[in-house]
Amino acid sequence: MKVSKILSKGKIGSLELENRFIFPAIDTSYAHRDGKVSETTIKHYERIASGGAGLITVEAATVHKSGLIPKGLDLSTDSAIQGFSKIAEAIKRQGTKAAAQLFHPGRQTSSRHTGHTLFAPSAIPSKPVYEIPEEMTKALIFEMIGCFAQAALRVKLAGFDAVEFHGAHGYLINGFLSPWSNKREDEFGGTIENRCKFAVEIIKKTRELVGEDFPILFRISGHEYVFKGYDIEEAKAIALRLEEAGVDALHISAGNYESFEMMFPPMNTSTGTHQDLAKEIKKIVKIPIISVGRIHTPEIAEQILVEGKADFVAVGRGMLADPDFVKKIKSNQEELIRPCISCNICVDKLYGGEGVQCIQNPELGYKFSTDILQAPLKKKMIIVGAGPAGMQAAITAAERGHDVSLYEQSDDLGGTVRLAATPFFKKGYWNFISSLKKRAENAGVKIHLNTKVDHVFIRKEAPDTVILATGSTFRIPAIKGIDLNHVKMAEDIIKNPELAGNEVVIIGGGWTGCEVSIVLAQSGRKATVVKRGSILGDGIGRSHRWSLLKEMEERGVQNMTNVSYEEISKEGLVVLLNGERKLLKADTIVIAAGLESNNNLYSILKNEIEELYLIGDAIKTRTVLEAVQEATKLTVGI
Ligand SMILES: Cc1cc2nc3c(=O)[nH]c(=O)nc-3n(C[C@H](O)[C@H](O)[C@H](O)COP(=O)(O)OP(=O)(O)OC[C@H]3O[C@@H](n4cnc5c(N)ncnc54)[C@H](O)[C@@H]3O)c2cc1C
Ligand SMILES: Cc1cc2nc3c(=O)[nH]c(=O)nc-3n(C[C@H](O)[C@H](O)[C@H](O)COP(=O)(O)O)c2cc1C
Ligand code: SF4
Repeated sequence: MKVSKILSKGKIGSLELENRFIFPAIDTSYAHRDGKVSETTIKHYERIASGGAGLITVEAATVHKSGLIPKGLDLSTDSAIQGFSKIAEAIKRQGTKAAAQLFHPGRQTSSRHTGHTLFAPSAIPSKPVYEIPEEMTKALIFEMIGCFAQAALRVKLAGFDAVEFHGAHGYLINGFLSPWSNKREDEFGGTIENRCKFAVEIIKKTRELVGEDFPILFRISGHEYVFKGYDIEEAKAIALRLEEAGVDALHISAGNYESFEMMFPPMNTSTGTHQDLAKEIKKIVKIPIISVGRIHTPEIAEQILVEGKADFVAVGRGMLADPDFVKKIKSNQEELIRPCISCNICVDKLYGGEGVQCIQNPELGYKFSTDILQAPLKKKMIIVGAGPAGMQAAITAAERGHDVSLYEQSDDLGGTVRLAATPFFKKGYWNFISSLKKRAENAGVKIHLNTKVDHVFIRKEAPDTVILATGSTFRIPAIKGIDLNHVKMAEDIIKNPELAGNEVVIIGGGWTGCEVSIVLAQSGRKATVVKRGSILGDGIGRSHRWSLLKEMEERGVQNMTNVSYEEISKEGLVVLLNGERKLLKADTIVIAAGLESNNNLYSILKNEIEELYLIGDAIKTRTVLEAVQEATKLTVGI
């Protein structure tokens, strides 16, 4: 594609950037538990910097001990400068400019995590946390302003080229800006002028410490998308005050914990999600504007700049999925970019405390070597099953020079992900499948569809190595009446909701049960999810679970937990709840009772073939991430 703007040089204050791409702050949880920079932190930022973005922003670091979350970064004391200087050095070694983001979580954390009382402008809890914070005294407010400025000076002393204040997403600074979370009656609350005072004082104090030439970037939510929060009109008023206070660039994100999907726009939101918020703010300020939010292709990035909506584009998850995003644009290899599909598995891993990882980039997390070195001995390899595990294994093995044949019993590639991608809110998974297809073709994998492999076939082919990625099958529970005609499998209903009647009971409240209920409710049906356990959607990553449960509630899906199944009758499902028999009336019963590994072939061949491996759901049913990671880990070593 012809790109004129995105690769042109740009300036933020006195800082010249090679191109218009910025890697925004993305918390990784790679730091040590006590907030110190780890080797993984340094390695990560150097890897991202090697991809050629103009500016790399290091994730939010707390400016005060009370904001320290386990495995988050801590820049609240001078002793942290040394660790941070190693990150700055690593980024700059790659010829890229480096910024570091500063924050305090305010009320959007939990005292269980920080070991401190939560505090905020007012004693109002944030919904997903529900912990009532303490209202900050004026003395604490002034102390905190000093902490932000001191930490900014540390950013400079550590060798960074710029600092960014995190004034978005509902954290402490945003807490002051928002009329929804700031109900103070002193000079820090009330009018817009007053709500901006905390931010303005931080900027002024920082300027005194870092000098005129050191660029200060400021991130705000251009809209909070919460009831009684601020909208774009107030965001414009805030932007003007921040510009006047001396910031060098404004970075326009959106949302907070109660409008979570705006912070990390999922796959069913528009691309370039917040570009119009950036555009509105750009109209009224003179300083550069950075736009962020699903800018995951060079086309969208170029369009935002050409239309004058922003001066820079931040690509976050896009560079996690493919750290060489910018490099590939520079070398006219855009078609090789592994696209981020906004599945937010990275977010789920972060909130699950496991460190950021990505389905498109098995390297991320840096838990095992992913160096694709040529194999010392070229082998004849058969891979059975073309789900994500089989496809990823085939790609890596073929890239290393092996002779790889991939066999799939169905008529297309993708495995269970084809089903996962069917509901209207998960269409983004098709991009994942098509990028795997493209990579398999480029790597020279020999693909055989409509071929069910058995032990006879494998014996006849006599390969050196066999990798079984045979996935799973749907479990059919032993319930009286399961054979009745109105009992359907979730798999069939996801593909064709018209097979269901108007009143449906779904057996199983895991991933599949929750998703099929939304599909049914969306097509106008009454859906009730029943579950033996107590937690609906357990085992699903946190952000995905939140969105699913929210969607179910909004669409009127009913649920009943802690039941045991008695029998399926013509009238519906009979359950036992608290010792009482209950008939849940339904004209259709949908079975979503989980998956079981399909490893029959492995059982037959395990004592015959020396190099026989089992990967993905065929070992244990999990998610795409484990499938691609296991596949990579295995095949880099064969
Ligand atoms: C409804 C639903 C929604 C889901 N949503 C998500 C999600 O949003 N995110 C996520 O990360 N995970 C999701 N999952 C889980 C995810 O799909 C699986 O974890 C993942 O697909 C496992 O990959 P795999 O390659 O191990 O197995 P599979 O994807 O199951 O692939 C196995 C393949 O092997 C083939 N095969 C089997 N036996 C043979 C044989 N003998 N010969 C030839 N071919 C054979 C099968 O046809 C199949 O194509 C979802 C699962 C379901 C059921
Ligand atoms: C795992 C993860 C961690 C994040 N951590 C931060 C953070 O520390 N500070 C911040 O301002 N934004 C954070 N964000 C938001 C991103 O900077 C960015 O605004 C968001 O991902 C949308 O942009 P994208 O579509 O390019 O990813 C995080 C996003 C993700 C996915
Ligand atoms: S895990 Fe999903 S959302 Fe996160 S970077 Fe990778 S592809 Fe994008």
